[in-house]
Amino acid sequence: MDLKGYARLSEDELADRVRRLKREHDAVILGHNYQIEGVQLVSDYLGDSLRLAQLATETDASLIALCGVRFMAESAKILNPEKKVILPSESAGCPMADMIDGDDLRRFKAAYPGVPVVCYVNTSAEVKAESDVCCTSSNAVDIVRALEAERVLFVPDRNLASYVATKVKAEVIPWQGHCYVHDMFVVEDVELARAEHPGVPIVVHPESPPGVIELSDYVASTGGMMKLAAEHDELIVGTEIGMVERMNREYPERDYYPLSSFAVCRNMKMTDLPRLAWALEHEQHEIEIPAETLERARGALSRMLELS
Ligand code: 13P
Ligand code: SF4
Repeated sequence: MDLKGYARLSEDELADRVRRLKREHDAVILGHNYQIEGVQLVSDYLGDSLRLAQLATETDASLIALCGVRFMAESAKILNPEKKVILPSESAGCPMADMIDGDDLRRFKAAYPGVPVVCYVNTSAEVKAESDVCCTSSNAVDIVRALEAERVLFVPDRNLASYVATKVKAEVIPWQGHCYVHDMFVVEDVELARAEHPGVPIVVHPESPPGVIELSDYVASTGGMMKLAAEHDELIVGTEIGMVERMNREYPERDYYPLSSFAVCRNMKMTDLPRLAWALEHEQHEIEIPAETLERARGALSRMLELS
């Protein structure tokens, strides 16, 4: 069936179709916490970037459908070169990952000879290939500490770099990238949320600006936020809206409030059920990475998993 045909089916028909196609193609669906609800509900596993990378190394399925953005599907491929990995929406990239490329990083390294490079997983395979070790928002502090270096280059997120710098002894030299979704949180959002929900703790993602992080009670990856939800009846949640929707769905008797209801990652919302069904039927869009880049990127990602 073509994409238009799938688009004519109802939500229930699409969910049934996705489940059937998944069995027929021996596929596993790995979904990020920011995916739309319909995609979250048909995913075999939901998680943050670290969990999705770990799950990709644990699955027996021969086809991995990564419902998220391109760097997540690339990470799954890098860790499983023999498996077919597909990204249902070909144009679902991460704008932050696009803020640095291989040439940029080579120039950055040349300006700081011998200083190790820690790259956030929100990067292309080419940038990972130029890096010493990767990190995610849940292990960035531990990874930088484990390096025991006096200085590290940290790419591409300046906000995550600045958060890590408050927790480690090393000097953290940042690349000036940012996430357009988290970078728009402002101190006034925190003040307003506290006034509206007195006494309710605030958790924010470390991609948020330093002033917002300073005023919050917790800083966590999306996986860490789900753990906090298990422990709190109420939370104000400073990240993409899909995370807050998952919390309220899984704990219907509790209340999780978005720090801002404008925090929507357009790229994460590009995957919908018609595209997922079409992608499973046609096993598209396949992730392909040149062998040499993949091998070098695998070194940085594997090193992260060993240290996690
Ligand atoms: P997590 O690893 O915390 O899920 O973050 C991924 C991401 O893209 C945040 O914007
Ligand atoms: Fe990239 Fe930000 Fe979207 Fe995460 S929320 S995928 S960092 S643009």
